Amino acid sequence: MNETLIVFGTRYGATTEACAEIQKILEREFKLHVEIWDLKDYRACPDLSDFDNIIIGSGIEYGKWVENTEKYLKENKFTDKKVAIFISSSYAGEEDLYDYAKKNFLDKVLEKYPHVQPVAQAAFGGRIPKKELPNIADERLLGRLPEFQIDNRDWDKVRDWARELGNIFTQ
Ligand SMILES: Cc1cc2nc3c(=O)[nH]c(=O)nc-3n(C[C@H](O)[C@H](O)[C@H](O)COP(=O)(O)O)c2cc1C
Repeated sequence: MNETLIVFGTRYGATTEACAEIQKILEREFKLHVEIWDLKDYRACPDLSDFDNIIIGSGIEYGKWVENTEKYLKENKFTDKKVAIFISSSYAGEEDLYDYAKKNFLDKVLEKYPHVQPVAQAAFGGRIPKKELPNIADERLLGRLPEFQIDNRDWDKVRDWARELGNIFTQ
């Protein structure tokens, strides 16, 4: 058995898309079986005991993880599991803000849960839908902007990380 579970928390869907890309690579390139679960439905989440590898991803808003995703870190023991963790954060997608994002949105959260010892972690860029950018312009101008106003995700970084995980999970 080598089963992988991806659980995530999202507010605007960027984390969901990163999870889908990671799942695709693990399945196609590493022939792993992967289940994926949005933690907004927390209680019905698949049972941890059925999995060897757990990937946990959260979007960041005002410096915070999605509540249920941090709760998942807190409430599970992950004994004998390979755990990998990532965040989707617009700061992390900017060269000059990356270190700040990694330290404050990832390292500091993990420090709170020392029972979680990840085999890999990553801070990816994010996407802010334009409707979440209030007061930038009135509707007439907003209507002409591209669908997503700020998107600093680096898909090659997401894919490279997925391959790193594939290698760790199949060792
Ligand atoms: C209201 C709001 C607040 C945000 N606050 C932060 C922040 O404090 N730090 C950061 O890095 N990104 C911030 N972002 C950007 C999000 O991290 C980015 O949109 C991320 O990709 C969201 O992931 P999700 O779509 O999975 O929720 C914010 C976005 C919004 C809309």
